[in-house]
Amino acid sequence: MQKTFDVAIEALAGAVATVEPGPPAGNHLAEALPRSPGARGVKSFYIETFGCQMNVHDSEKVAGLLLARGYRAALNPADADLMLYNTCSIREKAAQKVFSRLGEWRGEKRKIIGVLGCVAQQEGEEIFERAPWVRLVCGSASYRKLPALVDELEAGGRRVMGLDLRVEETFETEMTLRDNPVRAYITIIEGCDYSCSYCVVPRTRGPERSRASEAILLEARRLADTGYSEIQLLGQTVNSYRDPSSRKLTFVELLRAVASVEGIRRVRFTTSHPNDFHREIVDVIDSTPTLCEHIHLPVQSGSTRVLREMRRTYTREEYLEKVSWIRSARRAISVTTDIIVGFPGETEQDFEDTVTLLDQVGYDGVFSFIYSPRPNTTAASLTCAIAESEKSRRLGVLQERQRQIQLARNERLIGETLEVLVDGCHRTRGQWTGRPSSNRIVNFTSPRENLLGEYVQVQVTRAGPHSLIGEHAVSD
Ligand code: 5AD
Ligand code: SF4
Repeated sequence: MQKTFDVAIEALAGAVATVEPGPPAGNHLAEALPRSPGARGVKSFYIETFGCQMNVHDSEKVAGLLLARGYRAALNPADADLMLYNTCSIREKAAQKVFSRLGEWRGEKRKIIGVLGCVAQQEGEEIFERAPWVRLVCGSASYRKLPALVDELEAGGRRVMGLDLRVEETFETEMTLRDNPVRAYITIIEGCDYSCSYCVVPRTRGPERSRASEAILLEARRLADTGYSEIQLLGQTVNSYRDPSSRKLTFVELLRAVASVEGIRRVRFTTSHPNDFHREIVDVIDSTPTLCEHIHLPVQSGSTRVLREMRRTYTREEYLEKVSWIRSARRAISVTTDIIVGFPGETEQDFEDTVTLLDQVGYDGVFSFIYSPRPNTTAASLTCAIAESEKSRRLGVLQERQRQIQLARNERLIGETLEVLVDGCHRTRGQWTGRPSSNRIVNFTSPRENLLGEYVQVQVTRAGPHSLIGEHAVSD
């Protein structure tokens, strides 16, 4: 499935597309602004993004960087002088997709083809061997070098690479092209210091680096000034945040500070690691209406034995204790998670433990994945692989159980009125779409027009497993 993002600020049209947004990736609109084909002689770029929100936001920053250098956004890949793929290597399929995309440009000489992100970091020079028409390979920890790398290519360089992971700083840009007109992302921490045995991220994104709280708050204020009212704080392990500046804000203090920026009505954060998830996070959400009532808390497995093999640093019981804090909050905080099925050696009993965990927690959303062995991860050398057909069967069982749980949980909301931030419309269905604080998808009808970016009261009339249906309660 390919999704095309249309940029809706400052006429920065086109040039960014996202494939397979993973866990709750940015929503988007089709409210295209007038697009200009661009002046003659001005170089143009197009970025296709694969993977998670971190990648989506990295693409926004790279686009901002190129715009600041005088590039313009191309309307489509064919028109671009610089075609960039911001890649994901979390699972093998995602990585394969990139190579099949690159294959479409076989022998290309006129435009510069570049590979960014996790596949770039992971495969490095191999990419030039597999696709010799690629001229730029740059991992996310080296993006600040991108302008220099592009200069080098423009000055006649044949191939350039930026793969240094030994970086202290985070990736700051003067200007970020914002892709989603109602929700703005702010990276607060990059990289990851955990070492889950199945995961490539510590190798593709490097060690953990937190951003100074001052810089984060400045960005939040700027976003509020340009009209954004919803902010999502990003990090692979967002709640491991440690302010490197002398102010030394804790994650909870940072949440409170961002939530109190004038003009900001909603603050979200993702992804939380259970190990750094403390009761204070629940308390601050409970006492701060601006903080959204949603926590994405990847569990990966319901079996303590598998969690140990995965090196997740917590047991099933410890995870459930954290969920009990959330459940005892005054606000109805929704909980979503990521789960991997078919980890090497996962027994029928281990899998059963994961299915029962679904019931015990009562998740409002689950992103479930079939285990995919990845190069240079410790799990890749485990010998007790589960057959592909069995992995698929388990995924099916898990998804069906979760579908029932979600349907039941969503049905409980029928009759309630939710405040929804409108982020799009399905013109053919005559419906608007948006998200309440819990981050569920709400599709609704309204007698009003031009609701994009508005907060509206929606009465829920029907519920499906993956979305709610409602009507605009037009007294507002
Ligand atoms: N195989 C399958 N899923 C994986 N994830 C990470 N690595 C792998 C892998 N090797 C999943 C985890 C993580 C999500 C972003 O991707 O569930 O939370
Ligand atoms: Fe990967 Fe684990 Fe780090 Fe998450 S916490 S990015 S799963 S290594």
